[in-house]
Amino acid sequence: MAQFDIITLFPEFFREVFDCGVVGRARDGGLIGIDVHDLRPFGIGKHRVVDDTPFGGGDGMVMMVEPVARAIETVLEGKRDKTHVILTTPQGEVFDQNAARRLATMDRRIAIICGRYAGVDERVRDLLVDEELSIGDYVLSGGEPAAIVIVDAVARLVPGVLGNEDSVINDSFPYLLEEAQYTRPREWNGHGVPEVLLSGNHAKIAAWRAMERLERTCRNRPDLYEKAAAILKELKDNDPKEG
Ligand code: 6GU
Repeated sequence: MAQFDIITLFPEFFREVFDCGVVGRARDGGLIGIDVHDLRPFGIGKHRVVDDTPFGGGDGMVMMVEPVARAIETVLEGKRDKTHVILTTPQGEVFDQNAARRLATMDRRIAIICGRYAGVDERVRDLLVDEELSIGDYVLSGGEPAAIVIVDAVARLVPGVLGNEDSVINDSFPYLLEEAQYTRPREWNGHGVPEVLLSGNHAKIAAWRAMERLERTCRNRPDLYEKAAAILKELKDNDPKEG
């Protein structure tokens, strides 16, 4: 079973989010395990303090190394070596589908420390975690939403979670956007659906969908299109049948 442990100052943030949809079903079915752990009890002193003012002065509080170390030790109970520990922080590498696939196929437990916006003692980075991940170039008030994103993206790649393995394979090509999709009714307020989709001609439909994906990616995400082109070229260059 793929195991995820989240360590956070806001466990209530995660209260229902992993109960729904694909992730909730995978959990119910025992394909994945997700446990959320409160960092607070690992804080220092009577007040369970988890952060302090920065050495050298400045605004904001810094998450202390000691509570995080204790939390990791207790939560992972001697399984640290079998666990990939992630810190969510805007300073990390940006999480993408390749990272999701890498994490899903790592065959290690995953622990996620939710960083706090103001900062984390550098020794957490240097000594306690294996990797830092961000989910994009914008500022969040904490790493909790990032933990949700990472668990969702990784969990659905765990074998059996989606049921339909085809979807996983299609997903695993992250560089083209999905084509336009339609369902009933055929016409809504005078707006129809592309004729080809009603034609029953599967070859024609497949060709239309492929074209749609390319067109949409070109238009909406030219950066992805460039990446896809580069990957295709690499595949061709390495293919003994070609060239
Ligand atoms: Cl992981 N944390 C915060 N605080 N902001 C972010 C982020 C993470 N990823 C994007 N923005």
